[in-house]
Amino acid sequence: MADRPRRKPEDLRSHRWYGVDTLRAFGHRSRTLQIGYDRREFAGKPVIAIVNTWSDINPCHAHFRTRAEEVKRGIWQAGGFPVEIPALTLSENFQKPTTMMYRNLLAMETEEILRSYPADGCVLLGGCDKTVPALLMGAISMDLPTIFMPAGPMLRGNWRGQQLGSGSDVWKYHSELRAGNITQDDWHEIEEGIARSFGTCMTFGTASTMATIAEVLGFILPGGATIPSADSNHPRLASNSGRRIVEMVWEDLKPSDILSRKSFENAITVMMAGGGSTNAVVHIVAMARRAGIDIGLDDFDRLSRTTPVTLNLRPSGKYLMEDMFYAGGSRAFFEALGDLLHRDTPACTGRTLGEEIAGAPIHLPDVILTRDAPLEPEGGVAILRGNLAPDGAVIKTSAATPALLQHTGRAIVFDDYNALERRLDDPALDVDETCILVLRNSGPQGGPGMPEWGMMPLPRKLLQKGVRDMIRLSDARMSGTSYGTVVLHVAPESYVGGPLALVREGDMITLDVPNRVLRLEVDEAELERRRSAWKRPERRFERGYGELFSQHVQQADLGCDFDFLAKPGRNPEPEIH
Ligand code: FES
Ligand code: MG
Repeated sequence: MADRPRRKPEDLRSHRWYGVDTLRAFGHRSRTLQIGYDRREFAGKPVIAIVNTWSDINPCHAHFRTRAEEVKRGIWQAGGFPVEIPALTLSENFQKPTTMMYRNLLAMETEEILRSYPADGCVLLGGCDKTVPALLMGAISMDLPTIFMPAGPMLRGNWRGQQLGSGSDVWKYHSELRAGNITQDDWHEIEEGIARSFGTCMTFGTASTMATIAEVLGFILPGGATIPSADSNHPRLASNSGRRIVEMVWEDLKPSDILSRKSFENAITVMMAGGGSTNAVVHIVAMARRAGIDIGLDDFDRLSRTTPVTLNLRPSGKYLMEDMFYAGGSRAFFEALGDLLHRDTPACTGRTLGEEIAGAPIHLPDVILTRDAPLEPEGGVAILRGNLAPDGAVIKTSAATPALLQHTGRAIVFDDYNALERRLDDPALDVDETCILVLRNSGPQGGPGMPEWGMMPLPRKLLQKGVRDMIRLSDARMSGTSYGTVVLHVAPESYVGGPLALVREGDMITLDVPNRVLRLEVDEAELERRRSAWKRPERRFERGYGELFSQHVQQADLGCDFDFLAKPGRNPEPEIH
């Protein structure tokens, strides 16, 4: 990489805006001077777009106004011209029906921001779950030099001296509240202690999983994915990212130079070894397909079988992201995986992954484990198939109850989330812990947006009996901080007539994870009868983004991207008149 030819100012994309002698270029220059810049500050310099997803309604990105300034500091120092451009914020806790509905909109926005403005390269500021894949999907499609600047995990939560983990402890204590084991006052104290700083969820949920993936793919400076948001190393990561992106533009080091089948296999491996979020299955497939690389569910199952879980982080293990940082962070985690990772994949530094992680030490051996003494011998996620999920379903085995992984049970069926809320705590509901809770109409079209409803709450009467897990099955996703024996992403989804639509209350369902099977114990003739009686739900959207989404979103096994964004094809540079 080091010997890549350096580009000259006339080779820059922005030269067409700034460097030529045309009427339009006069406008670009005079309007930049209007902002108060001196000619020497922008002429002949790489224009770096800082795509910033800061918003008042996104607590995970609350520090991004300052971080953007720190990125700019690095860009100026390295001789670039920074241009901050705000983009749609996807705030996991606030946006309805789910941020997942808008991931593709941010991806599309990112790509078009980069295309329509004079960007030579970009620094992407994101972190909260869907923001990471969204920004990267857009940048991969646009294929300009790209660095990702992650928001970083927030500080550890605290309640009466106990450490609280984002998400995971919410679910846990909510069950205890419903079971009558903690008081409403306790619950309010937890509310005040669980999110103590800006930054992303500090369990190894979706945000941490996706940041780690972004780093192993080569988009984050080495070690950057695990630096806590409130640590002073974090602003340094921002200015370093600013300095590096300018060099990347001169080297013309683009996503297409970095990404390969091998780098996406690395992404799957670190997801598995971290016991990471099931959401990453959807996002990795979507990002790979943007890069023209065919990664499918079977790649996840194959790599899961050979990858041990080596991070002792919640929800699969015990610790939190701050501990992982003190333990040596992402570099130590990757290094300990040895030859499970392809080490010759390039990173944004211009060096290989192997070079960047060589010799990174583990400081806390109970947090980052080694391959010979892992948390689990096999990876965290299995792919299931069968007559109930012809195109696949996903289960996070590392967060499941081992005794339930081979089980046949009676289906309790909820047609949608409202039905679930209505019936779940009805004392007359005929349910026990051997039953399987089935939720449908929660997929990409049905939710819409495939909400994180998969970890359904348990019936109160079973909670009071001490039951804390049951098999739950749906075409929804679940939060990366969730746990339990939960089968997700059933494809095709029920809303478009997938077999999940045909399940009736009382049917028997078999979950057999060792053999990777998900089966509805109803014969084909009966299923055919039910299929011909099935009625397509009424069209939900007639206009707006919802209509665009419904027309074009793909199923979970294809990454839920829009068909017209996932496909290759001509998308020309804008003419500059
Ligand atoms: Fe933003 Fe969890 S809510 S990362
Ligand atoms: Mg989440």
